[in-house]
Amino acid sequence: MNIPLVDLKRQYDSIKEEIDAAISEVISKSAFVGGPFVESFERSFASFCGVRHCAGVGNGTDALFIALKCLGIGEGDEVIVPANTFIATSEAVTMTGAKVVFVDIHSNTYNMDPAKLEDYLKKRYSKGTSTRQHGSTATRPSAVIPVHLYGQPADMDPIIEIARRYDLKVIEDGAQAHGAIYKGRRIGSTGDVVCFSFYPGKNLGAYGDGGAIVTDNDELAVKMRMFANHGRMDKYDHELEGVNSRLDGLQAAILGVKLKHLPEWSEKRRRNAHLYNQLLKETDLITPVEVSEVVAVYHLYVVRTRKESRHPLQDYLKSKGIATGIHYPIALPNLKAYARLKHTPNDFPEATKASQEILSLPMFAELEEDEIAYIAQEIKHFHGDAGRIGLARQG
Ligand SMILES: Cc1ncc(COP(=O)(O)O)c(C=O)c1O
Repeated sequence: MNIPLVDLKRQYDSIKEEIDAAISEVISKSAFVGGPFVESFERSFASFCGVRHCAGVGNGTDALFIALKCLGIGEGDEVIVPANTFIATSEAVTMTGAKVVFVDIHSNTYNMDPAKLEDYLKKRYSKGTSTRQHGSTATRPSAVIPVHLYGQPADMDPIIEIARRYDLKVIEDGAQAHGAIYKGRRIGSTGDVVCFSFYPGKNLGAYGDGGAIVTDNDELAVKMRMFANHGRMDKYDHELEGVNSRLDGLQAAILGVKLKHLPEWSEKRRRNAHLYNQLLKETDLITPVEVSEVVAVYHLYVVRTRKESRHPLQDYLKSKGIATGIHYPIALPNLKAYARLKHTPNDFPEATKASQEILSLPMFAELEEDEIAYIAQEIKHFHGDAGRIGLARQG
């Protein structure tokens, strides 16, 4: 068997007629930038998320950047992000001129640990001032970006409560969690402003780049929409200098078709995850923890191995036609890109440890039960062999 990490072709085959018709309609109406398909998708996605506004933008990184800019974040601000996420989360902060601050993650969910967020802020303010010297610039904690990583919502209630006490804006990164639910609320209606990516491999993916920002804040929605479109509402009446970051008509029409299937796809991902959990019970892998009051949508299915057995397991599975990935192999603060912050791996022990042990197994809605059974069986074979040569976890 050959099993990819994600298979976009299988998904396309299952909805080919609807997608082809939607693409033809956009082309026949030349509705490439703005227009009815974008407006219709924005309305549907806002309603799916349970909020009043959705602004389609060029990609998920821009969504974060635009949200931060329109909330007034820039030079002199610190924005706190989890040490384990895709670099786009922190890149968007730097793009505004603000300083990136990392906090460590929970060892079981891999999401931002609210206790670590509070620790950072306590230490920061125990210095008796809300500002500190960073190079020649004084900065102050201004915002936090919780990320709903791998499709599992971050623990929003304590994060929002801490943010309120310390006067931080909260911008959620929902790039991996379309449709996930936290305490009865769908990601999107969980906070003031939530950013999404529609990169093709995402749970709701376009056929190119795309992104969106959703909010219930009327004023912010107008501002973000304007900023993303050269700072204008009317053709040549620019109220400010913005950027060009728009969701295009073709992507919007494709996303409109796919959004209707998303609940059923999320359900299928969850069923796949539960089957993996059950079949991997007797192995020494640690399967994903889904915390109570949360409905995760398993953008990725991430297991934990022992550091020394991860690469041998990955190589073994590859030899059996099973693709795997690592999300992410280097925790953000340990990347060369952040050498300027002078962190050591000990500063973020949980994120560093996770980066050495995690492994993503194939996960997509169309993954078949017999494929999951085959993957689990090969993992068991590996552990049998590895146990004999002393690589697997004991006991
Ligand atoms: C957690 C996270 N944030 C932000 C992004 C950025 O999205 P995009 O690739 O659409 O810019 C991604 C995806 O790539 C992501 O996984």
